[in-house]
Amino acid sequence: MKKSAISIGIIGFGTVGTGVARILLEKQGELRRRLGFPLILAKIADIDVKRKRAIKLPGGILINDAKSLLNNPDIDIVVELIGGIHPAKELVLEAIEKGKHIITANKALLATEGTDIFNAAGEHNVEIGFEASVAGGIPIIKIVREALIANNIQSVYGIINGTSNYILTKMTGEGVEFSDALKGAQALGYAEADPTFDIEGIDSAHKLAILASLSFGVPFSFKKIFTEGITHITPLDINFASELGYKIKLLAVAKQSANEVELRIHPTMLPKGHLISSVDGVFNAVYVEGDAIGPALYYGRGAGETPTASAVLSDIVDIARDIKSGSVGRIRGIGMPGRSDVKIKKMENVLSRYYFRFSAIDKPGVLSRISGILGAHNISIKSVIQKGRKREKAVPLVMMTHEAKEKDVVCALKKIDRLPVVSGKTMFIRVEGEEDN
Ligand code: HSE
Repeated sequence: MKKSAISIGIIGFGTVGTGVARILLEKQGELRRRLGFPLILAKIADIDVKRKRAIKLPGGILINDAKSLLNNPDIDIVVELIGGIHPAKELVLEAIEKGKHIITANKALLATEGTDIFNAAGEHNVEIGFEASVAGGIPIIKIVREALIANNIQSVYGIINGTSNYILTKMTGEGVEFSDALKGAQALGYAEADPTFDIEGIDSAHKLAILASLSFGVPFSFKKIFTEGITHITPLDINFASELGYKIKLLAVAKQSANEVELRIHPTMLPKGHLISSVDGVFNAVYVEGDAIGPALYYGRGAGETPTASAVLSDIVDIARDIKSGSVGRIRGIGMPGRSDVKIKKMENVLSRYYFRFSAIDKPGVLSRISGILGAHNISIKSVIQKGRKREKAVPLVMMTHEAKEKDVVCALKKIDRLPVVSGKTMFIRVEGEEDN
């Protein structure tokens, strides 16, 4: 017998859980009209049932036992919103074994354990929705795996971490140091008390692993993603970048060429005229190039209660419709990893343009020693600026290069940093966007 309503259980009653519950309760009538059947918020499980939340739930919904939610035969869809890998993985796998469909916002879980979870979902013929795991309110999962199905995606670039984008925007706009911008982000609740995942690029790498999987069909490859955060970025480099016509953004980059995919997260200099350069504050943006559509940019809020809850609701509705129409499995297979012919390119073989800032002693012959080493490593200089004049003292010497291989850059800089005329470690930032010849 067909079910008349679809029942939802939520595990994790934090910010996003509250948002999902609020929409399910407040927009119940509207959703029913749009869908033609009701969505019922059956249970919410959280270890803390005492804390006051900004929502009033009908009696009996909030429980402190996730297992009893999983054992509830009425619940069709389990929404996992606790984050982290354990016990989220165990709960999700148990729910799958019990035949529940899964929705998760947990990018760390999918990026590292996604293969096990999708295999289990396939075995038990249940759906997995994860729109909320990447870029919050931007429906990028649906775009990549459904709307762009006719495209071979060549590249995906994104600002997919709002916290680090807020910090870089603050440093750019107000000239403040990284540590002060981070404190500001924490005071506003954008950055966690432990901000490591955001500022070290790990959160972006989790999201890129998911996007790359959908875009190129490669297995979830979090461990193979080159990841560099923003903690070493200084106002000095932001100013030089600006003088040269660039902005610095923490960019997630995925590019496909022949049978290789490069996947990397690092601070990146982008021309000020590039659309992504104007994405500021906590906003996210994903720039996709497909062979049929050409370039496209998707922009919006990447986090927060209502944008993320909106993404969860989109999955709830898709899965509920599939349950009702008997087409479960419709979404699960689309664009999921299946290609073994594609390799993840090693970072040392990646080609990029570079910005270098040397601390070089200001005296004759220094530039030629540095450029000699660069030349010997096949690195061609595009422009050089020396800032200031301090005889026999260190001054910033800024260089932009043409395309070079990462391996050659790392090797050349190691040698340059050992020169007695160079004081301190050379700063280098990769450059993306059109070369302005
Ligand atoms: N911490 C993330 C960010 C939001 O700063 O964008 C959740 O994915």
